[in-house]
Amino acid sequence: MKSNLVIIIHIFICSFFASHLQASDRVDSPEEDFLSLAATPPMGWNSWNKFGCNVNEDLIKEMADAMVSSGMKDAGYTYIVIDDCWQVDRDQDGFIVPDPEHFPSGIKALADYIHGKGLKLGIYSCAGSLTCQARPGSRGHEFQDARQYAEWGVDFLKYDWCYNEGRNAEAAYKIMSDALKACGRPIVLSICEWGENEPWKWGKGVGHMWRVTPDIRDCFDCLFDWGGVVVLNIIDVMADLYPYAGPGHWNDAEMLEVGNGGMSKDEYISHFSMWSMLAAPLMAGNDLRKMDQETIEILTNKEVIAVNQDKLGKQAVRFMDMGDHEIWAKPLSDAEIAVCFLNRSLQEWNLDYDWKKQTMYFARDINIHKYEYDIRDLWKHKQIGTTGRNTKTTIPPHGCLMVKLSKKNK
Ligand code: GLA
Repeated sequence: MKSNLVIIIHIFICSFFASHLQASDRVDSPEEDFLSLAATPPMGWNSWNKFGCNVNEDLIKEMADAMVSSGMKDAGYTYIVIDDCWQVDRDQDGFIVPDPEHFPSGIKALADYIHGKGLKLGIYSCAGSLTCQARPGSRGHEFQDARQYAEWGVDFLKYDWCYNEGRNAEAAYKIMSDALKACGRPIVLSICEWGENEPWKWGKGVGHMWRVTPDIRDCFDCLFDWGGVVVLNIIDVMADLYPYAGPGHWNDAEMLEVGNGGMSKDEYISHFSMWSMLAAPLMAGNDLRKMDQETIEILTNKEVIAVNQDKLGKQAVRFMDMGDHEIWAKPLSDAEIAVCFLNRSLQEWNLDYDWKKQTMYFARDINIHKYEYDIRDLWKHKQIGTTGRNTKTTIPPHGCLMVKLSKKNK
């Protein structure tokens, strides 16, 4: 009897303390810890789109300098990612060897430099025996490589899929995922198998983001005989994938082409707006040292970036598809909502939009019929009316109108 009483008192004390633990005292599960490394879509810069294989340590340092001086760091960009071609060989013990000609100071020194700027370093490898540029891949060396990255101070790994020799993708990525989880340093894993094995179905908890298409080309709406996809192709693939995105696990719409010269200003604005609506990682892919004002303004538009980085982590839904004209909506925290009117055509869109006719069925907190919302244009940075009246404007060819709705007089 006495011992029963002791047990009851013990249970009471334990449950009292458990229910009074502060959030900060709680120990997250390994799964929550892993997801928290990319609680919002990762933002940074990657060398591939602009520089291909022509990478070296001075270039990477200059990009880190420019990320700070251009205001991109202040806007939220963090990762400087060296893509393919930094590695040349393995030594006799199987350790990966950085190219001594182009990275003479080694990767650790580069990581230190980048960390000194308050930024993080990303690196690239491949689940196959070779990378896509035929440098040594990580197959058979996953744990050794992960430990090496941790020693160097790497914070992000883009992991490709060339020379995969018919392996099972989920299993192959899981090996590197396990290696990174065991390496002693938090490292974000970017799965890059081009959407071939539906990574959105198995990628959560394995990596933090997964590519959904082959490589992007710097065009809004072109056909390339030799492969690759353009902005509209990627948007169409992303459209069906919204259920798979959320904090710690993102559909990767590919690195940005903003500033690389192949698209018009309106097209780059649509590209950046839609990547933000789609909660896609924002990885700039241009030369950060040589940006004109227009490019800086697009890449650092904090109101648009706030939509991308919203902590709810919802990916936009294409809730009206009228062929050339589409309306996308992304629920945000605080019962706000971002809406993007996308003009896919080469003609102007004379918009005359009656908000009261629509029901945003996918956004439970949003009731366009019950409340009136203020409408803010996120590119003009000003209020443009309320949902009580029609929104009338002209949207240029391949352009968009991106707005945020907030409950009036909130
Ligand atoms: C693949 C990837 C690209 C890039 C190159 C590097 O094509 O999809 O993003 O990393 O390899 O070789």
